[in-house]
Amino acid sequence: MKEQLENIRQEALAKVSEAADLKELQDIKVTYLGKKGSLTSVLRGMGNLSKEERPVVGEIANNVREAITKEIDEKTDALEQAALEEKLENEALDVTLPGRPVQVGGAHLLTSIIEEIEDLFIGMGYEVREGPEVETDYFNFEALNLPKGHPARDMQDTFYITNELLLRTHTSPVQARTMQHYGGTQPVRMICPGKVYRRDTDDATHSHQFTQIEGLYVDKNVRMSDLKGTLDNFAKSMFGDDREIRLRPSFFPFTEPSVEMDISCKVCKGDGCSVCKHSGWIEILGGGMVHPNVLEMAGYDSEEYTGFAFGMGPERIAMLKYGIDDIRHFYTNDKRFITQYHHAKGGTL
Ligand code: DAH
Repeated sequence: MKEQLENIRQEALAKVSEAADLKELQDIKVTYLGKKGSLTSVLRGMGNLSKEERPVVGEIANNVREAITKEIDEKTDALEQAALEEKLENEALDVTLPGRPVQVGGAHLLTSIIEEIEDLFIGMGYEVREGPEVETDYFNFEALNLPKGHPARDMQDTFYITNELLLRTHTSPVQARTMQHYGGTQPVRMICPGKVYRRDTDDATHSHQFTQIEGLYVDKNVRMSDLKGTLDNFAKSMFGDDREIRLRPSFFPFTEPSVEMDISCKVCKGDGCSVCKHSGWIEILGGGMVHPNVLEMAGYDSEEYTGFAFGMGPERIAMLKYGIDDIRHFYTNDKRFITQYHHAKGGTL
């Protein structure tokens, strides 16, 4: 029996030292020390021993059990320690590595330009308003002194949805909407940025969808000189204090008189070059004194109230300001183009 116990000890210890993982150790424990394990079954035979032999064999059996248990425990600790070290090794962070760059977005150039113009006019006491892109024929045309069949409607090729509904061709309908809102009794000072739509074939200077900013100032005693001063302030703050403006006579059905505004060419300072087509001037926007019919239709007494209005294209402003040669750049979203302008006002880089 002693021999059996000794064999068990040697066999078990050999297996423990070979065990490669915790599962194997657990199996060894069950095989030798478990209820049906070999040590237990040897001990069951102790009843056959003599009185004198029993304590001796009992002590040996205890020693064997203790030895195996101790060995298994030590091996378990060693394996757990090794597993922990491996895990730490695998998860090691090199805190000295440089960080991976995170791409930061920025405002689109068009957004920056619109915000810059908004800020400028807010500073002059204007409010920023919006109007619907799906507009009625009435607000887009009739309320602006363009009755049905008026030849000037052809100036703006229109996407019609029904006979009475269309995609607005300009932001001017917001003039009529705002005046209606103030009901003919209060002064109006507003600008309205927004998308507009025209049945144009896209090329370097045309797009079937683009943006405009409308401006309107209605009060008692508003004069042409107010328009000129406002536009001069606008031109200088957008393009630089050294830029001059000039107003040329023009025609729009909703203003009388109507003007187009040019700014002096930055490249040649007025001498004439290819940028300004040798005229020394670059056209920027249209405007004029609000037509009495437009005031009256919106509920303002044109004997008492006068006003000026203007409309401009932020794309064109941006193109002139940054030397961009194709309006399609604003809409094709090539990141190489877009990210160049993240430093513009409103950008984050
Ligand atoms: N709505 C005109 C257009 O899209 C631009 C314009 C001209 C707006 C004169 C105005 C204005 O308010 O007074 O061509």
